[in-house]
Amino acid sequence: MQVRQWWRMRAVNDEARKDAQELLMHQLGVSRTGFYQVQDQYLAGEQLDCLHQQWLKREQGTPLPYILGKAWFWGMSLRVSADVLIPRPDTEVLVQALLELDVAGEADVADLGTGSAAIALAASRERPQWRFVGVDRSEAALRIARQNVDEFAAGRVHLVCGSWFDPLKPHSWDVVVSNPPYLSSDDSHLSALIHEPLGALVAGDQGLADLARIVDCAPLYLRQGGWLLLEHGWQQGAVVHHMFKRAGWHDVRTLVDLAGRDRMCLGQWHG
Ligand SMILES: C[S@@+](CC[C@H](N)C(=O)[O-])C[C@H]1O[C@@H](n2cnc3c(N)ncnc32)[C@H](O)[C@@H]1O
Repeated sequence: MQVRQWWRMRAVNDEARKDAQELLMHQLGVSRTGFYQVQDQYLAGEQLDCLHQQWLKREQGTPLPYILGKAWFWGMSLRVSADVLIPRPDTEVLVQALLELDVAGEADVADLGTGSAAIALAASRERPQWRFVGVDRSEAALRIARQNVDEFAAGRVHLVCGSWFDPLKPHSWDVVVSNPPYLSSDDSHLSALIHEPLGALVAGDQGLADLARIVDCAPLYLRQGGWLLLEHGWQQGAVVHHMFKRAGWHDVRTLVDLAGRDRMCLGQWHG
C-alpha cells in the first residue's frame, strides 16, 4: 500500500488526518515537507503492522505523544511516557512569563514538579546564564526528564527527587516556577485524561492543596526580591490570587493563557 492510500483511508476528519500524517512522518522519518515527497512510496509489511498497532491505540484513546514517545514543546521534541504529563501549549505561556520576569544576570531557578523537564529546558534554552534545578517526587518521571536534559541541556539542568521544597536549600533561589497538580479528584476533565499520571493531575482540597503549599513555603526558599510563578486551573484565578496576597507577596499579578483565561499567578517576595 502506498503512503497516500494509508493516509487517505484514515483521514475521516481533520484530527484523524493530522494524526495519521504524524504517524506516517514518524514511521518514515520525514519532515512535514518531506512527507509530501513520499506520497507514492510503498509501505513495507513491518511498517504497515506498526502503523496498524499505533492506529488501534489511538482509537482506544491513547494520546499521540504517548504512542510516539515524543511531544513538541518550545521547539523541542521531548521524550514522554505515561509517567509524565504531556507538556501543554499553555505551559509555553508560563515559560514566556518566566522569561519576562525582572531578573538580571545569573539566577538560580527551581522548577517544582518538573515532569518531562519541559519548563526548565525551554527556559534554559533562552537563558543560558541561569542555573536550573528540576524537582519531582516521581522517580519514573525523572528518568524521562533525565533523557531530555541529556539531549537538550546536559549540565545546565539538575534533577532531584523529592517533595516540593524538601530537597532545596533555603534562601537560595531567585525564581520558583511550577505547574503543580491542580485538579480536584472529582473534576469532570479527569475522564478524558486517564492515560496521564494521576499524581501529575490531582491535588487535595479541591485541587488547591499543592498550590497553597508552594505559595506558603516559597518565601523561606527565595532570596530577597525573588519571584514565584505558578500555573493553575482556569477557575482558580481569584482564589490563587488571594492566596498570594494573604501570604504577603508583592506585585501579585494574574496572567492569561492562549484562550484568554486566568491561568497563572506571580508575585515577588520582599520579606
Ligand atoms: C502538572 S505536572 C507538570 C509537569 C511539567 N512541569 C509540565 O508542566 O509539563 C505536575 C508534576 O508534579 C509532580 N508532583 C506531584 N506532587 C509532587 C510533590 N509533592 N513534589 C514534587 N513533585 C510533585 C508530578 O509527578 C508531575 O510531574
